[in-house]
Amino acid sequence: MLPLTLNKARRVVVCTGMAFALLGLAACSDGPDAQSLGPVGLNGAARQAGLQVGVALNVSAVAETASEQRRSAVREFTSVTAENAMKWASLAPAPGRYEFGPADQLVNAALANGQRVRGHTLFWHRLNGLPGWLEAELGQASDRAGRLRELMANHIDTVVGRYAGQVAQWDVINEPLSIVGADLDTDNVFSQLLGEQYIDLALLHAHAADPSAELYINETFTEFVPTKFDALLALAQRVLDRGAPLHGLGLQGHFFFQPPDAGLLQEQLQRIAAMGLKVEITELDIPLPLFNAEPDPLAAQAGAYADVFNACLAVPLCSGITVWGLDDANTWLDSFELTQASAPNRPLLFDDQLRAKPAYDSVVAALLGVMR
Ligand code: G3I
Repeated sequence: MLPLTLNKARRVVVCTGMAFALLGLAACSDGPDAQSLGPVGLNGAARQAGLQVGVALNVSAVAETASEQRRSAVREFTSVTAENAMKWASLAPAPGRYEFGPADQLVNAALANGQRVRGHTLFWHRLNGLPGWLEAELGQASDRAGRLRELMANHIDTVVGRYAGQVAQWDVINEPLSIVGADLDTDNVFSQLLGEQYIDLALLHAHAADPSAELYINETFTEFVPTKFDALLALAQRVLDRGAPLHGLGLQGHFFFQPPDAGLLQEQLQRIAAMGLKVEITELDIPLPLFNAEPDPLAAQAGAYADVFNACLAVPLCSGITVWGLDDANTWLDSFELTQASAPNRPLLFDDQLRAKPAYDSVVAALLGVMR
């Protein structure tokens, strides 16, 4: 990847934010010695900064048919999340029947690359997160709540048990709150049948299945809905007060309504850390059309990426950032109903030819600008 030596001196010039993206050097400072760094890519910069930098992948990215260029882009990251392969619907085509092929392939490839694995996600009630058979299965049960509890326990034992010691973090619960509101989502079979305690049950069981895994609640749109963010913290506090093993909160970071507000984001990350919880930005994407009015949209996007990384790097308990896709040709935003009209959304670090974008450079620069 790009050497980060921006001048001919023996010291690397480290720049942050928009200034770097625009190659204005005003916000640049002397960094570590150039000889000790050499050309540093994303992976090296992430490891140096002590931050996990992850990518969400579908199995095609690691399949034998994937090009060497794609595989080497995958190796730029220190952490991998299965974009879809570990969802309940993907793993279990029928009650009690599991197909682990794609999930195993992703986990094995990541471990072979020395990458961390985030497990995504055990329980998610939206889109195609739930298996199609679940409703009929519960419909046949005389005790629907009891049957759901049993199915959840079996799912956790089977999946968390299988990947015990391999999956470092699980998004145990995904999106428990209503989409932009401050309440628990009521359009959710888990909360309907088991109440808020479905979260505790899942956390307790997952902890028993793999005591070494860090357990997360992962939420969306909190970054620009402050009441929802407050509700997430209140929920997390209730879960902790009831004694359930919650270790972290994931903020998804789908910034398709507006660019990140760096100050607000850092404050949110700090508030989570102040509760003694870890925090990760778990599904980051920042669409390019947000910056269409800017003179250089790619540079503005790079600045927004740097803002997010700098916010996380400023908070020691912010342990990772995962981008939601490897390259601009593989983004869910181009087929999602709210964002497909603005396709191509080009929201990621690599373009559709797998070339590193200015956002890639600004992220590397942000990582090299800190020692944690
Ligand atoms: O696998 C089928 C394939 O057999 C079929 O031919 C094709 C036809 O549409 O669909 C394929 O399934 C798609 C699946 O992704 C795998 O590619 C689904 O239609 C599609 O809806 C699904 O979208 C995923 C979505 O979650 C729903 O599960 C996106 O790729 C994925 O990026 C998105 O990720 C979620 C996170 O898990 C949670 N947070 C929000 C985020 C964005 O919605």
